[in-house]
Amino acid sequence: MKQIQHIAFIMDGNGRWAKARGLPRTEGHRAGGETVRRVLGYCRDAGIRYLTLYAFSVENWKRPKEEVDALMHLLVAHLAGEEPMLHEHRVRLRVMGRREDLPVAVREALERVECATAAYERQLIVCLSYGGRTEIAHAAREIARLVAKGELDPETIDEATVARHLYLPDVPDPDLIVRTSGELRLSNFLLWQASYAELYVTPTLWPDFGEADFQAALSAFSARERRYGAL
Ligand code: IPE
Ligand code: IPE
Ligand code: MG
Repeated sequence: MKQIQHIAFIMDGNGRWAKARGLPRTEGHRAGGETVRRVLGYCRDAGIRYLTLYAFSVENWKRPKEEVDALMHLLVAHLAGEEPMLHEHRVRLRVMGRREDLPVAVREALERVECATAAYERQLIVCLSYGGRTEIAHAAREIARLVAKGELDPETIDEATVARHLYLPDVPDPDLIVRTSGELRLSNFLLWQASYAELYVTPTLWPDFGEADFQAALSAFSARERRYGAL
C-alpha cells in the first residue's frame, strides 16, 4: 500500500442519510459526527499524518438557520467529546476558514482545543466557513498588502508566494481527496491544494462510511499512477 501523508474528506450525505430514515437532517449530522471519530482511528492506524475534514463551507451559511445552529452546536459538543482522544493519540487540532464568521462560543471552544493540542505532530484540520476561492482571495489580499508596503516586488510573485499566503502554508497538499455520497464535484474545497490530488468518490453516505470504505479508498489510491504531467 502506497503511504499517504495527507488525506482529505468532503463529508457529504448526512441529510440524505437522515431522509432515508424519516429523521430530521440534524440527526444525519449527529450520525456524521460518529463517523468522524471512526475515521480518526482509521487514519491513525494507517499512519496518515494529516487529516482534513470539510465540515462547513462558506456556501453552507445559505442553509436554514435551524440547521446551521444545530451544526454549530454539534461542533462544540463533539469538540468537548473528542478532546481526550486528541490528547491520547497526540493529534493537533487546526481550524481552516473564515473563523471570524463563527459564533463566539464555537470560536472560543475551538481556540481552547487548538492551544491545548498545539505541540502534537499529527494534525486534524477542520475546514469551517471554508471556501477555496475565499482562501485564494485572502492570499491575494495579503500579497497585495506586501506589495503596497514596498516589501514585495510583483515580478517575483510565483506559485510559492501564493502558497505561502494560504491559510495553513506549512501543510502539504492532500494526496487523496475522498468525497462520500456520490457527487462528482469539489464544491469549493481546497481549490489550490487539490491541483494534483487523486480523487475518490464513493456512493456511501458519510454516516455509513466505515473501515471497508476507507480501505477501498486507500487501495484505489495505491493503484493510481501519479505522473504530475511528466511521462
Ligand atoms: C454534509 O452533509 C454536511 C454538511 C455539508 C454540513 P449534507 O448536509 O450536505 O447532506 P446531503 O448532501 O444533504 O445529503
Ligand atoms: C460540501 O457539501 C460541503 C461540505 C461537505 C462541508 P455540500 O452538500 O454543501 O455541497 P453541494 O451543495 O452538494 O455542492
Ligand atoms: Mg451535501
